[in-house]
Amino acid sequence: MLDEKILNVLRHNRDSYVSGEELCKLAGISRAAIWKHIEKLRLEGYDIEALPHLGYKLVAIPDSLIPSEIKWKLKTKVFGINVVSYRKVDSTNNIAYELAEKGMKEGTVILADEQLKGKGRHGRHWSSPSRGGIYMSCILRPSIAPNQISKITLLAAIAVAQAIRDFSSLEVTIKWPNDIMMDRKKLCGILTEMKAEQDSADFVVLGIGINVNSSIKHLPKGASSIMEELRHRGGKVNLSRVDLARRVLERLEEYYNLMKSEGFGPIIDIWKDLSVMIGSRVKVSLHGKTFEALAHDIDPDGALVVRTESGVLEKISSGDVAVIR
Ligand code: BTN
Repeated sequence: MLDEKILNVLRHNRDSYVSGEELCKLAGISRAAIWKHIEKLRLEGYDIEALPHLGYKLVAIPDSLIPSEIKWKLKTKVFGINVVSYRKVDSTNNIAYELAEKGMKEGTVILADEQLKGKGRHGRHWSSPSRGGIYMSCILRPSIAPNQISKITLLAAIAVAQAIRDFSSLEVTIKWPNDIMMDRKKLCGILTEMKAEQDSADFVVLGIGINVNSSIKHLPKGASSIMEELRHRGGKVNLSRVDLARRVLERLEEYYNLMKSEGFGPIIDIWKDLSVMIGSRVKVSLHGKTFEALAHDIDPDGALVVRTESGVLEKISSGDVAVIR
């Protein structure tokens, strides 16, 4: 708390020095104690200049997914209510699941700079190179039936796609159900897990992995990062993961509230606007079977409806779908 108080005073005076005496008065602690807090902030990556007779000046802020950075100017009420961050974890989804079981509040966000066992869909591995991406899991407690959980995944996909569009010039699109793509390369994946009683979800863990500054050589085939895509287009290269993570939380809250107030219809409409899939020929892999079809629509529950070669409409609720060119 005191760290944050001191930091916020320094943030508000970015171009000047704040004297030790002033900080002592504001925080109600001794000069020696102020010094200890400054040292702690420096260890977190803040570059703070200290000059005798002048005091302290904040020179540079780290692009670290730490609570003090994520919460700074975050315009949400629920998403980010608690922020827990780690340098390195197995999987933020696993930590979020454990915390949710212990009763942690809706809107709690777990972040990590690196994941050793990042989990993808269908039991796949999610590459999570150190400081290259945003690896984030949110605890949600929606009043939703377990078979409706894909709605949360679709909602998250539009939130992330919109946040990337807000934040960069990339016109990313969504591939059903939850991949965020740029020119057929995957920039983000979403893995939703839940604990459920028979007819209602106890909690949902919404896991989001975004490749932000990762170099292509650290990513699997078919994947790219926002930085790589911008670089191809001659754009800005160094991106703030903190700014993007904040924007994702704000968009998530906006669409979560929209779903609560107006139902799932408006979310599907936005999803369709951001997707390039409807109307395309697709290859569906389902229960070990593969077939080609035409992506026809998204049904009101978020399932993909395809028209098979024999003209029959079939609902796909899970499985892999790739656009054929
Ligand atoms: C996919 O396969 O497309 C989903 C990938 C989801 C990755 C994210 S990264 C944060 C969270 N923690 C995990 O272990 N997985 C999700």
